[in-house]
Amino acid sequence: MPSKIVLLPGDGIGPEVAAATVELLNALALELEFEEHVFGGASIDAHGVALTDETLDACRAAAAVLLAAVGGPKWDTTDPARPRPEQGLLGLRKALGLFANLRPVRPQPSLYDASPLKREIIEGTDMLVVRELTGGIYFGEKTRSDDAASDQCAYTRQEIERIARVGFEAARGRRGRMTSVDKANVLETSRLWRQVVRELHAADYADVELEHALVDSTAMALVTEPSRFDVIVTENMFGDILSDEAATLTGSLGMLPSASLAGSSGTGAPGVFEPVHGSAPDIAGQGIANPLAMFLSAALMLRHGLGLAAEAAAVESAVDAALADGLRTRDLGGAAGTREATRAVLSHL
Ligand code: NAD
Ligand code: IPM
Ligand code: MN
Repeated sequence: MPSKIVLLPGDGIGPEVAAATVELLNALALELEFEEHVFGGASIDAHGVALTDETLDACRAAAAVLLAAVGGPKWDTTDPARPRPEQGLLGLRKALGLFANLRPVRPQPSLYDASPLKREIIEGTDMLVVRELTGGIYFGEKTRSDDAASDQCAYTRQEIERIARVGFEAARGRRGRMTSVDKANVLETSRLWRQVVRELHAADYADVELEHALVDSTAMALVTEPSRFDVIVTENMFGDILSDEAATLTGSLGMLPSASLAGSSGTGAPGVFEPVHGSAPDIAGQGIANPLAMFLSAALMLRHGLGLAAEAAAVESAVDAALADGLRTRDLGGAAGTREATRAVLSHL
């Protein structure tokens, strides 16, 4: 029986990179069946909400969810009573319990000179950002009046422990190092975070080399000595910010994939696989979006969502080979459009 993939193209460049990714996956001749649903701004336009019950049910019943991006100026509002595209994304993550967001940052040697950073700084960088995705300030109670607003940041021991486990397990399969990033010099949630990670390390993961670091200086170290990081584990908002920063190491935000999982083993709810970038309204509709972050997200879906490790590696190798062969979209300093980039990767698959 074919595996059902729910495809959520979303807004802006979303539909452009989603169509390219379906073309790529179809070329693998796997038993995949795509079911497309409107999501984000497109869903607000069609149904008044960013994520309908019907779409959520379809995601629950799928083998995996492949998502492009949501949002755009059309739906930007500062009025808390109006719907926002991003509510669809947050609602989906929460409803599926996708607490573990994996964002691998593996700069391609052929792209070292496409980054604004010096080649010597990037060389040898290979890190995994493990971002907590269903807690913290994103999901705490919000208040708003004319003159004041607040967003509560809360974490429980259980939430911290389960994401730290994902980080430690990942480090064991890599170079055996984990950096836990927090703001323990100021925030109470960060002090609990640090204590729980420390206790878990002593109890179950003493073989992993653990360091604790503050988020502000980590933001600097990411662009001054990135190669010293192996696994970074951090809370929801710090992970959001640090991963976009880390994208500069790969040459562009258009290169970074992600996997959002309900656990480390692939059991439980289906995963959501999506690029780290957004809907890029500034270049939407021009056919120039870099589809590689979404191709690499599809590779993560094949590996973590469908258990197709060889096919995942084939997609990643084809992306690497196309880049080594000179493929450069606009964001990487070249002239290739989405179609040319897709053809280049297909020719190496
Ligand atoms: P963005 O990631 O959309 O764009 C930032 C910059 O990177 C832009 O200059 C854009 O052109 C460029 N860029 C991003 N992806 C690219 C690609 N694949 N190819 C070439 N260039 C690319 O961030 P933003 O402009 O701050 O946000 C725009 C909208 O996207 C907002 O509504 C935001 O909420 C939303 N957003 C959605 C997601 C998501 O759906 N997962 C993620 C981030 C932002
Ligand atoms: C991301 C995005 C989302 C986030 C937004 C669009 C809600 O920036 O996936 O990184 O902040 O998590
Ligand atoms: Mn983000």
